[in-house]
Amino acid sequence: MKIDVLTVLPELLESPFAHSIMKRAQEKGLLEVQVHPLRKWAVNKYGMVDDYQYGGGAGMVMMCEPLANAIDELQSARPYDEIIYMTPDGERFNQKTANQLSLKENLLIICGHYKGIDERIREHYVTKEISIGDYVLSGGELAAAVVVDAVGRLLPGVLNDETSALTDSFQDNLLAPPVYTRPADFRGWKVPDILLQGDPKKVEEWRYEQSMQRTKEKRPDLLDE
Ligand code: ADE
Repeated sequence: MKIDVLTVLPELLESPFAHSIMKRAQEKGLLEVQVHPLRKWAVNKYGMVDDYQYGGGAGMVMMCEPLANAIDELQSARPYDEIIYMTPDGERFNQKTANQLSLKENLLIICGHYKGIDERIREHYVTKEISIGDYVLSGGELAAAVVVDAVGRLLPGVLNDETSALTDSFQDNLLAPPVYTRPADFRGWKVPDILLQGDPKKVEEWRYEQSMQRTKEKRPDLLDE
């Protein structure tokens, strides 16, 4: 999978994909993330990519021209399955969307800044608008990093243990069960016996019950979906 990210702040995205699982995914050739500085398509030599909004009001708007030229150029190299705009008024991101996006080949993610991007780009180019939650970040970069990470780790072969993404929280609309590692007794706090007995079927049943109980307690809304 190839993910292009278009941003006015490429520096913000230097690190998130350079470590751990995202780094390995790229080294294995399973994921390619390319960050493109929008100012490369600025309308003048001063790097202008935003302007005052029509109708007045505080806050700048990201202009049509740099965005349209950038998208045209990038998608002439490879057509995108989705052109995603990160915005607090988008559809709320969840595991289901991550699963769906992980099946695509080529994605473009546009990071918004200031008051956002000119509406005409949303109308004519953007195919999907994603919010990572009901709060406003100072730009779409951190949100884009969240999406790339959540999607990238689902690509086949990225995680060492192929099955481990299947047992994540949210995969069946359930939260993951509690997990423990050595020692079996830490300060008198004991690991549940059932995990030490070596009966995989009982462990599986116990985990399912724990998942269900945890979901009922912490996220009952997931069970309604
Ligand atoms: N840009 C600013 N806030 C955001 C959010 N909550 N989700 C996605 N993009 C954003």
